[in-house]
Amino acid sequence: MRIITTIPEAQSLPRSNRLVVVPTMGALHKAHAELIRVARKHAGRDGEVAVSIFVNPLQFEPGSDYERYPRSEKADEEFCRKAGIDFLFRPSAAEMYADDRSVFVDESFLSNVLEGKSRPGHFRGVCTVVAKLFNILAADAAVFGEKDFQQLAIVRRMVRDLNFKVEIIGVPTVREEDGLACSSRNQYLNLEERKEAAVLYKALRAAVNGGKKSAADVVAVARKVIAEAPLARIDYVELVSAETLRPIQMAGPNSVLVLAVFFGKTRLIDNICLR
Ligand code: PAJ
Repeated sequence: MRIITTIPEAQSLPRSNRLVVVPTMGALHKAHAELIRVARKHAGRDGEVAVSIFVNPLQFEPGSDYERYPRSEKADEEFCRKAGIDFLFRPSAAEMYADDRSVFVDESFLSNVLEGKSRPGHFRGVCTVVAKLFNILAADAAVFGEKDFQQLAIVRRMVRDLNFKVEIIGVPTVREEDGLACSSRNQYLNLEERKEAAVLYKALRAAVNGGKKSAADVVAVARKVIAEAPLARIDYVELVSAETLRPIQMAGPNSVLVLAVFFGKTRLIDNICLR
């Protein structure tokens, strides 16, 4: 595994093989391992896999957890070595952003709702850094998790609208044994909160399997289950179109139930696609 920390070094790698990139912010866990596994599969026998680790200041809205976001350089390096990747791209913030930067990538439709509403500027930061990573690494393909459903939709839209020649591969959400979606932010939860957080997947499943069709009913089922957890504070629970991310009236094959819920100061997101 080769560790690369500068952009010139990344851009001068001798390259003839297909490169599949897994963008991350580190604090790697078993969902990242699954993304790497899928990346390896897509890279094929002669292809290569790169993981990027960069806690992107641009996507942390003011007052959020940029400073306290978990950083575990040594453990992540070991993790990547064990996962058998070819390149680890780990730039500093100064390497990635000039002080007088003035160009950003701004998706202007899918970003205005859900996470974008609760976290202004977040997706502008995500699109900008993902576009930079695609360019720096000359990615042929990149792997993203469906856990961040809106992020995946926005990255696909960016690739479509800006004609990036990068194949986007989505990976189903990886969960802990009790159903909680794996997330670096799960480490913020105390024992009580961690126990209660399992209610989120329970709520999503109950809503999907409850036989309800109208959005109001589906959402009501999810809310009722979440209410069983006294520490949970709902930010949003919505049934939206998987295409537009706008609310839809009836559950159908193209709808997704999305939620964001606080446990203490920690905000968790999850989603489930309906059939
Ligand atoms: P990060 O939160 O580190 O996630 C890196 C990738 O792992 C993302 O594609 C995310 O969707 C995926 N992922 C995280 N938890 C997952 C889970 N439980 N199941 C499946 N996939 C999961 O997302 C980011 O970083 C950043 O916004 C980034 C895209 C790297 C841009 O800075």
